[in-house]
Amino acid sequence: MTPPVLELDHVTKTYPGDPPLEVLHAVNLAIEEGELVAVVGPSGSGKSTLLSIMGTLDRPTSGTVRVTGIDIAGLEDRQLSALRATRIGFVFQQFFLSEHESVLDNVAEGLLYAGVPRWERQQRAAEALDRVGLGHRTQHRPTKISGGERQRVAIARALAGRPAIVLADEPTGNLDSSSGAAIVAMLEELNDDGATIVVITHDHDVAACFPRRIEILDGSIVGER
Ligand SMILES: Nc1ncnc2c1ncn2[C@@H]1O[C@H](COP(=O)(O)OP(=O)(O)OP(=O)(O)O)[C@@H](O)[C@H]1O
Ligand SMILES: [Mg+2]
Repeated sequence: MTPPVLELDHVTKTYPGDPPLEVLHAVNLAIEEGELVAVVGPSGSGKSTLLSIMGTLDRPTSGTVRVTGIDIAGLEDRQLSALRATRIGFVFQQFFLSEHESVLDNVAEGLLYAGVPRWERQQRAAEALDRVGLGHRTQHRPTKISGGERQRVAIARALAGRPAIVLADEPTGNLDSSSGAAIVAMLEELNDDGATIVVITHDHDVAACFPRRIEILDGSIVGER
């Protein structure tokens, strides 16, 4: 049997301080290949902390994180960066797009660290932009497209690396409700095509669109539907 794409086993996170603050408490979570999941909770509940740990940007204080069956505790930072670059796609709340480069180059740049040669970066970037419906905007600057389109570029960049899982932090947070709904519809389509996607949101209306919803409150998973 293939292992879950992502598995958290009794994961805690404590931020240092006086006193130290435990912001995630014994979180257990498994995401299987092909799932489309929302993690929903109010501000300060630990969503971004959880996303950092799911995405191996941060290590847990205790507990186990496995990505495609690999326990990250056994990896050095360099190995972990390599695993992240090849298996995890991120869509951050801020788009982090360079204004001085075309949309195509912004997406292609995401593949630098995956060790993909230039011609293939450009080709994969063009394919990913096609998938998010932006095949006609590849030569535009990010400043010359709409907010919803910028969010699509950010998603294309996450997809271009053909990751095992895409993690998105509030992908509809900066958008009006109709652009937000279009992004959700697009994530559903990508999921139909086989992408495994986890969306973090504080918005219960957005979360309601997803087949699986995990509720987080004060650093604990309190429910699942
Ligand atoms: N680097 C840090 N050091 C100390 N405490 C932190 C740090 N980062 C976050 N926290 C605290 O951890 C808790 C969870 O924060 P987190 O950013 O994960 O919440 P969130 O659910 O993403 O909130 P939001 O919806 O506002 O983005 C909060 O109480 C926050 O103040
Ligand atoms: Mg957050």
